[in-house]
Parts: sequence; C-alpha cells; structure tokens
Amino acid sequence: MFYDFINLADLDEDDIYELLELADGLKKMHRESRVYQPLEGQSLAMIFEKPSLRTRVSFEVGIFELGGLGIVLDYGQIKLGERESVPDVARNLDRWVDGIVARTFSHDAVVQLASNASIPVINALTDKLHPCQVLADAQALREHKGDFNGLKVAFVGDGNNVCASWMNFAARIPIDFALACPPGFEVDEDIYEFARREAEGEVFVTNDLEEAVDGADAVYTDVWASMGQEEEQAERAAVFRPYQITKDVMAMAKKDAVFMHCLPAKREQEVTSEVMDGPQSIVFDQSENRLHTQKAVMATLMERREDGLCPKLSHHQRGQGGESA
Ligand code: CP
Ligand code: NVA
Repeated sequence: MFYDFINLADLDEDDIYELLELADGLKKMHRESRVYQPLEGQSLAMIFEKPSLRTRVSFEVGIFELGGLGIVLDYGQIKLGERESVPDVARNLDRWVDGIVARTFSHDAVVQLASNASIPVINALTDKLHPCQVLADAQALREHKGDFNGLKVAFVGDGNNVCASWMNFAARIPIDFALACPPGFEVDEDIYEFARREAEGEVFVTNDLEEAVDGADAVYTDVWASMGQEEEQAERAAVFRPYQITKDVMAMAKKDAVFMHCLPAKREQEVTSEVMDGPQSIVFDQSENRLHTQKAVMATLMERREDGLCPKLSHHQRGQGGESA
C-alpha cells in the first residue's frame, strides 16, 4: 500500500496494475458521461513552482469530476522555503485540505511536504521524477499494445525526470527499457542501478541510438532542455541533434511501433513534425490519459474508508495507537 504518490518505485506491481485498472474504468465512465464523485466535499491544494498546461488542467478537472474542490495556489504568494519552511506549509495545508499536488524544482521539497502532512501528497513533477506522466503513458501504451509483457520501450534523449520515472516503471512491470543518450546525459546512477536490480526485463543505457531503438515497440522522447535548463538550450541542441526522432529513426523500430512524447514538444528539435503528427504518434492519447490516471491516484489516496479517514491518515493513526494527529 502507498499513501503518497511521489515515486513509482514506492509502489509494487499490483499497486500499479490496480491504478491502471481504475483509470481504465474512470475513462470509460468519463466517455459515457457517468457521474462518479467519491471525493465529494474534499479539497485539493495545488502548488506549481514550474509552468504547466497538462498537469494543472487535468488535476483541476479531475478533482472537480470526482466531486471535490481544487485550489491552485499562487506560487508568488507562498514561495516554498522562502516565505515559510516547506514543513510549515505542509502543516498548515494539512489542517484545511484533503490532499496536496506539488510541482517543484527540488525533489526533496515534495518528500518533505509528504513527511510533514497527514494528507496524501502527489508529485506533479520534480527535477528528478515525473510519475504522473508515466502512469498516463502506461495507460496509453497498454491501450495500443494490449499488454505490457515483453514490450520494449526505447527512450531517446536526455536521461531526465520522465526517463527516470520510466526506469522505475520498468523496475516494477515486466518490460524491456533502453535509454539512448549522448555521453554525459545518462539517467541518475541510483535509479539505473535500482532498475537493473529489480527489473524482470532488460534495462540498459547506451549512447548508440540504433541499439536502443532496434526492435522497440515504443519510441519515446522529451525535450533536450527541461524546465530550469533553458540557458543550456543552445549548447544541448548541438549535442542532442543526432538523437532527433525522424521517420528514419522510427523505421529502426518495429513496424507497428508507437511514438510517444510527454509534451510540450519542441518541434524540429527532439522530434520532427512528420513523426509527431504521423500515424504512429500517440502523444495526445498520453495527454488525454493524464486526466484518468490522476483521477485514479486521487481516488485511491483520498477516498475515505470505513473509519472516515483517507488511507494515509488512517494508517498514521493506527501507527499512533489510535490517537488523533
Ligand atoms: N507533460 C506535462 O507534465 O505537461 P505540463 O508541463 O504542461 O504539465
Ligand atoms: N522533462 C520535462 C518534462 C516536462 C513535462 C521538464 O522537466 O521540463
């Protein structure tokens, strides 16, 4: 059982499959315009230190559809760790709302929010990880491929937060995962080692694009310079140019391979428009699924159980001998 959603490595295989099953069900209900409001009367505070389109809209719509209220905090008003310490922000929000969504530069900030709040905290992207993205990607990949078993995902580009969450996913779900990146842009060593240790499938990092993409069922890329690395944009563009996803690169993968991207994309940099708008691209399915998978995460973490508490608070109180936090 997990009580926050910060790192896919904290979940086990069953947890991930259960979230995906629920997301599939919620997507079906959404398409049939059926109302399902297990979070009626609950509220969610959202902290965005970095820009967002998909994450912000899908969380706001998601909490509304589940019957709750979403509040996006004006980042300039709270300035995590500047105006007030991260633990104190958590301790205050804890008294008013039922869940926190946070997108921060520092991964540790999200971890600190979670360890200082009795309500669930959801990682909406940090410099290190982007688990919400990969859960939505996984739902889209399964929709297109039917099953994960034996699939090979090739991530081409920077060994960044999205890549790291994909590696954590490969540690839990039996897929093969390859990262092709320029030398010096590999994924964090601890995340790679964890995946190598835990994964049932083959996980490897290479500088050779063709080695990674050969036999792939999905070719994934992301921007070459992530949020916060804007000043490195020009320098990175030169280094990453040989890793651009073109029609020729897609032809190295399986014939029925899909093209994936978390978006936003820099067209004609990491991917050509021809590929992004082409028949193999499932990028907007990934984007659509942000709504359904995040609703699954919120419903799982925030829904009150028999004792009237969310799973995290219920667990916390049991751990405290039944006393109130
Ligand atoms: N993919 C993603 O997280 O998009 P946003 O940055 O727009 O939220
Ligand atoms: N790696 C990108 C992902 C954006 C959704 C970034 O962190 O900017």
